[in-house]
Formats: sequence, structure tokens, C-alpha cells
Amino acid sequence: MAEHRKILSNRFDVEDAWTLPVAERHGAYRLARKAVTAMTPEAIRDEVRAANVRGRGGAGFPAGVKWGFLPKDADTVYLVINADEGEPGTFKDRQIMEKDPHRLIEGCICAMWAIGAHVTYIYVRCELVKSIRRLEAAIEEARNKGYLGRRPFGKDYPMEVHVHPGAGAYICGEETALLNSLEGKRGEPRLKPPFPAVEGAFGKPTIVNNVETIASVPDILEMGGKAWSDISLLPESFRDGGTRLYGVSGHVKNPGVFEAPVGITLRELIYDLGGGMLHDDRPLKGVIPGGSSTPVLHPDHVVHAPAETDPLHPWHGKSHLDVPMGVDPMRGIGTMLGTCCAIVMDSSVNMAEAARNLMKFYKHESCGQCTPCREGCGWLVDVLERIARGEGVREDVDLLVDISNNMMGNTICALADGTAMPMLAFIQKYPEDFIAAIERGLGAHTRLDASDASGASGASGRAA
Ligand SMILES: Cc1cc2nc3c(=O)[nH]c(=O)nc-3n(C[C@H](O)[C@H](O)[C@H](O)COP(=O)(O)O)c2cc1C
Ligand code: SF4
Repeated sequence: MAEHRKILSNRFDVEDAWTLPVAERHGAYRLARKAVTAMTPEAIRDEVRAANVRGRGGAGFPAGVKWGFLPKDADTVYLVINADEGEPGTFKDRQIMEKDPHRLIEGCICAMWAIGAHVTYIYVRCELVKSIRRLEAAIEEARNKGYLGRRPFGKDYPMEVHVHPGAGAYICGEETALLNSLEGKRGEPRLKPPFPAVEGAFGKPTIVNNVETIASVPDILEMGGKAWSDISLLPESFRDGGTRLYGVSGHVKNPGVFEAPVGITLRELIYDLGGGMLHDDRPLKGVIPGGSSTPVLHPDHVVHAPAETDPLHPWHGKSHLDVPMGVDPMRGIGTMLGTCCAIVMDSSVNMAEAARNLMKFYKHESCGQCTPCREGCGWLVDVLERIARGEGVREDVDLLVDISNNMMGNTICALADGTAMPMLAFIQKYPEDFIAAIERGLGAHTRLDASDASGASGASGRAA
């Protein structure tokens, strides 16, 4: 049975916790005060490194290591919070911003002090109107109370937090496209290097972190990095610590967002926290583990790790559903943990239709700078549409594979890989669905966006 631990989410159920008096009654800003008045920046950085907090935005890069890339002699450093949350199936960051915005602001204060920044920009997807309003109100409250502004907590170290609404483009969640958009330029990814930690916002060294990553910092300081890291169910060697906000949507009885230690399994997420399959007579067909850019997993597929030296050896022969949800274990079975928000699909879904639905999204969102991505996304949709109309031929399956292979590793940002890898996984794991679609078309199949697939687009997630 999955353990449901409320640390980061411990104020989610508290009435009016988005207001400063209520948040403070429940512990807010104690750690920001301690950090700024009683801790050195280096001590905070050490705790964050010891916490083994892997970035919660999708790539899973360790935050402590990223902070260490900042040049030592930088005159200006910025902190940028990625609150774009555009990944289909993902609806966790908005829970923090709507229910407990002061936790994020407190995290920003601790992080600014730790990395030598005076200004934070929170880049929020514009559709998240409630998040934007709650954050702006909370910043105003914190400023009035003297927690932000010229002398936070009486310290002669000015700090400001600004909310910057995006304009609703998925690609602006990619950190360098986000920086361009923040600067008022077209939201297109930049070539890396230079990485943002060296040359980021307005040409200055910048740390870009996800909402949940930074909102975890006060808890890390409260518990101590090592103790926070040890909450994880994964062996220490995986260096993947703490708790995470797990999302689950699609064909489950209880879709929502749940905090639990790193390393629970997809089976626990679906059947314990998610309440099990929505329809008792429709078994699980597949699960996308962490937002739509992560390759789908088949419940009947098992882990192949016969060598004792393989980190996944303890799970050799077990179902993919029983592998712990950590950054590296998920990579080990050919997918990604991503945003840790799973999309559950039952036996009514034809995976060619699921693929068509997702590929249409990526075609729409490709920024068009790179030919393999711009053209590849378009061709994938053209072929899938042809199949859906019942005009496909068997060679179309090979064509989809060929197009996907040509998209990967050849582009400026990871959107192309995040399109091609899921496409390949749908074909490799469910070839029979593509053949069926080629033979009969897709007219009658249940769509991912059918009315009972609650929350798949992220809009209706509940938090617990
Ligand atoms: C196409 C694309 C979209 C992305 N969207 C988001 C997003 O909405 N939110 C986010 O935090 N990270 C997103 N990322 C990842 C960011 O580029 C970056 O890795 C992340 O903000 C770093 O924060 P973290 O280390 O705390 O995870 C996206 C990446 C790509 C390639
Ligand atoms: S991979 Fe796609 S989204 Fe990323 S920069 Fe190239 S064209 Fe734009």
C-alpha cells in the first residue's frame, strides 16, 4: 500500500492557506527567516545538494549540482521559476500555486539567498489565471510584511519576486524558450551551450527551476538535506531523494495529485492512490508515466536486468508497473519519470488513436526552427490521419518508425525527442492497434479526451 506523506502539501487542506496569516499560523516563512538571518548561502547549497532533489520539471537534473554551475564571480544572478506546466497530463505545480503560494515564495527567498540572486521571475502559463492571482496577492502580502523588498527579515539584502504570465505556448516551458519569452523575444529554444547557469536571462547567469523543486527547499532546510533525501524509498545509490507530487489521470476512479515518497510504483499510484481502474470490466491497457512526452508502458512487459551489476536487477522479471518511480529506474525500462503525472488508459483505447491525439498536439506546438521537428511532427500527423480515415497501408507503420528515428537527436531542444520516443513506444508496444486501425479506420474508438477520461488534459485534477 503506497504511503501518502504530506510534507510539501501539508497546507493544501488548510482553509485559506493561500493567505499570509493562515500560512504563517501553519509554519510559513520560519525557514526563510532562518535561512536569511542564520544560515550562510553555502550552508543552504550544501543541504540542497545532500537532499538529492532531482528537478521536478521533467529532466530530473539534481538541483544542487545545477546551482553549483553558477560562475563564482557573477555580478548579477537571476532565479527563474518554471511554472509553465504545459505538459499534457500534468497538473501538480498549479496545486502549489493555488493552494499554498507562500510556500513557493518562501522557497524563492531561500534559493535567492543561496545562489546570490536578488530577483526571481515566476513564468506562469497564462491559462493558470487562479495561480497568477494567488501568487500576485501572496507576493504583495509578503512585501507588506517585510519578507520581500529592500530589507527582507531586516537583512540588508534586497529581494523581489515578479510574476510573468506566458502566452500559452507549450514550447515556452523549455527553459531557454522561456528565457527568450521572458525577455520579450519570440519563444524559441536557444542552442546550448551556453547553459542558462552561465548565460541566461538578460545575458546573466540564471538558475531555472521548476515550481515543485523550489517549493521543496523550505522542507529540505527544516528536516536537513540528508533526512529529507532519506524519505525516498529508493536505495541511496540512486541519489533521488524526498517526496514528490504524483499526478494520476485518465481511466482511474480517483484522479488527482498525491504526495508520496520518491519510489512508489505505478501499480501503487494507479490502484492505491488513484483508486483503481475506472470501469471494473475494463483492464489497464497502458500507462504514460510522466506527462505525454514519456513513452507508454505496457502492464504485461517485464524488466530485463539479469546482470547483478545492473541497478534494476532487484526488479528483474517483474512487471514494469512494479518498478519504483524514480528518475533512473524509469530510464532503465526505456521511458522517463518526466513530471511524475501518469495518464492511465484502459482497454477501450486504441493506441493509434492515442498517438494521433498526442502527435496533433506536438505538431501544433513545434516552434518550427528545426527541420526534423517541424516536418517530422507534420508527417507523423498526416500518416496517422490517413490511418484514422481507414486509408492507411501496412507500410505506414514502417514510415512512422522511420520519421520518428529521423527526428531524434537532431534538434535544438528536446521537444522532437519527446514526440518521437512516445510515437515509437506506441508502435512497438501495441502494433496490433495500428494494424487494426489500418484495416478498419479509427471512427468508433474511444478517444483519450472522452468524457470519462477525467483530468487527462490536466484541467480537473484534484489534490489530496
Ligand atoms: C518542450 C519542453 C517543455 C517543457 N516544459 C516544462 C514545463 O512546463 N515546466 C517545467 O518545469 N519544465 C519544463 N521543461 C523542462 C525545462 O526545460 C527545465 O528542464 C526545467 O524547468 C528545469 O527545472 P528543474 O531542474 O527544477 O526540473 C520542458 C522541456 C521541454 C523540452
Ligand atoms: S526541436 Fe522543435 S520545438 Fe525544439 S527548437 Fe527545434 S523545432 Fe523548435
